[in-house]
Amino acid sequence: MASHAFHAEDDGLACPEVGAWAETKHRLLALYDELFSTGMKNKWDQRVYIDLYAGSGYSRIRGTKTILKGSPIIALTVPSPFDKYIFCEENPDLLTALKARVKRIAPGVSVSFVSGRCDSEIERICAEIPQHSSNNKVLSLCLVDPFDFGIKFETLRRLSAVFVDFVVLLAIGMDANRNYDRYVDGNSTKIDEALGNTQWRERWKAVGVRRRDFRPFLADEFSKSMESLGYLRKPLDRMKLVRSDDKNLPLYYLALFSRSETAYKFWDDVLKYSTDQTAFWD
Ligand SMILES: C[S@@+](CC[C@H](N)C(=O)[O-])C[C@H]1O[C@@H](n2cnc3c(N)ncnc32)[C@H](O)[C@@H]1O
Repeated sequence: MASHAFHAEDDGLACPEVGAWAETKHRLLALYDELFSTGMKNKWDQRVYIDLYAGSGYSRIRGTKTILKGSPIIALTVPSPFDKYIFCEENPDLLTALKARVKRIAPGVSVSFVSGRCDSEIERICAEIPQHSSNNKVLSLCLVDPFDFGIKFETLRRLSAVFVDFVVLLAIGMDANRNYDRYVDGNSTKIDEALGNTQWRERWKAVGVRRRDFRPFLADEFSKSMESLGYLRKPLDRMKLVRSDDKNLPLYYLALFSRSETAYKFWDDVLKYSTDQTAFWD
């Protein structure tokens, strides 16, 4: 995929700033969306794309004029588009910009916009997913892309009642480091909510490892929580660790959670291409 495929022209609508590393995320998502939507096309009657933290559709790399297409636009423009899209965004200004971009870029597609926090609006989101039946098999792909480790596991648990794969951005690099003391001593419930349990604290104390192992520990704990919902638990090296461009610090893991091995075949292709920069960028 050529680099310009991810870039857009300024259209004057809301366009939040992001770090340069966001481009890596978008490239990985673009490849996975494409493999998933094409690969699942003849196996399911309807494929649904859900973006719980959709954003405005475009973002600008901080300190530059480069505008990146965001995850909703990337998913809308795959070669075999999904049959339905559901975009949730809590910021009304960003959602207004997203609506305008969707109308301009993909006018014919079936899209539902959900305004508000995905956690409190989860029933509305679920109601937008077409009913699955033996005559209408529905598979969803859900992107979970918050700014920090603000995921609420209960939201994913509710969604997992349908056939859904998740691509989750585990933004635990900087967050877990900066707030380590508050998280571990129990003053903050943020990690409890992201993992859906409080027992992780005992497990962390029991392993007695170093603070720098907290990040992989949390990623593994998240996998364990997803396993409790029937998702396959994979080793950490099947997650993509993305580092900051300037200081090479770990920022986040991008991880796939599926109940089927088929999706991991696509995911492995994404991991393969992302480590082979030449193949991935051109
Ligand atoms: C990292 S950005 C998403 C970027 C987008 N996925 C992309 O690739 O262009 C996170 C977005 O989630 C929104 N947000 C934060 N908390 C939210 C919540 N609980 N529910 C829905 N949206 C939320 C923010 O306003 C922000 O636009």
